Amino acid sequence: MTVLSVRGMSVNFGGVQALSNVDIEVGEGQLVGLIGPNGAGKTTFIDAISGFVRCRGRVELSGRDLSRLPAHARARRGLARTWQSIELFDDLTVWENLAVAVEHTSVLEQLREMFRGRVVTPVACQKALETLGLSDHAQRLATELSHAERKLVGVARALAAQPRLICLDEPAAGLDTTQRADLGRRLRAMADGGTATLLVDHDMGLVLSVCDHVVVLDFGKVIAAGPPEAVRQNPAVVTAYLGGAAAEVVPTGAGS
Ligand SMILES: Nc1ncnc2c1ncn2[C@@H]1O[C@H](COP(=O)(O)OP(=O)(O)O)[C@@H](O)[C@H]1O
Ligand SMILES: [Mg+2]
Repeated sequence: MTVLSVRGMSVNFGGVQALSNVDIEVGEGQLVGLIGPNGAGKTTFIDAISGFVRCRGRVELSGRDLSRLPAHARARRGLARTWQSIELFDDLTVWENLAVAVEHTSVLEQLREMFRGRVVTPVACQKALETLGLSDHAQRLATELSHAERKLVGVARALAAQPRLICLDEPAAGLDTTQRADLGRRLRAMADGGTATLLVDHDMGLVLSVCDHVVVLDFGKVIAAGPPEAVRQNPAVVTAYLGGAAAEVVPTGAGS
């Protein structure tokens, strides 16, 4: 079943065409990778689907058109995202960081959320921590965590709200090879658990080793899309994205 369907997305920043006519789909339980060099338009894509920048094109979540909804309404419909820089509440524990993830404005809103099944419950927090391998860290303060653990908490916090789709903007930034492989396995488990996931990264290794489907952006255009094996060998990707560094395209070993 298709969870996210984006058709003909274009974004223009005062003359700079950040995205041109991009189509991307993510299905239930699918982990889709979006890669491309710095400035390719990856963050802009997440900003556009989650309602933070204006765009042309159509964004559907589980068959419902979100194109005209503001960011908070898209989030309520089940579109979750993380940012390139993680912000945790440093004075709170890991558990509390998850529990405060969603604030509801009114009792009515809370009832609606419960009806949609999109509410941060203790069970949802517990499951999110388990999926990201953080169960033993629930009572630690955010300040006591390593950079890699903070990244995982950022993802767990998004997952705790039980979204239909999670978009992750470079969650592996600043992690070493081992940590990246671990994160890859966790994200794979999250998708296998049913949460459609869009993984954005500028490094191919992690994405090619864990994703079901990979889309490559260059200067705002899709230059290749398909299974990791096909994308790895695509001449347009090798030329435009890797330049002369094709020999370095080795998976990190995070594959399932
Ligand atoms: N708010 C903005 N205003 C103007 N230009 C922007 C803005 N955000 C991004 N851009 C430009 O859009 C292009 C894509 O940027 P971005 O989506 O951040 O790329 P990536 O995440 O792939 O590194 C770049 O040329 C960038 O300079
Ligand atoms: Mg970016």
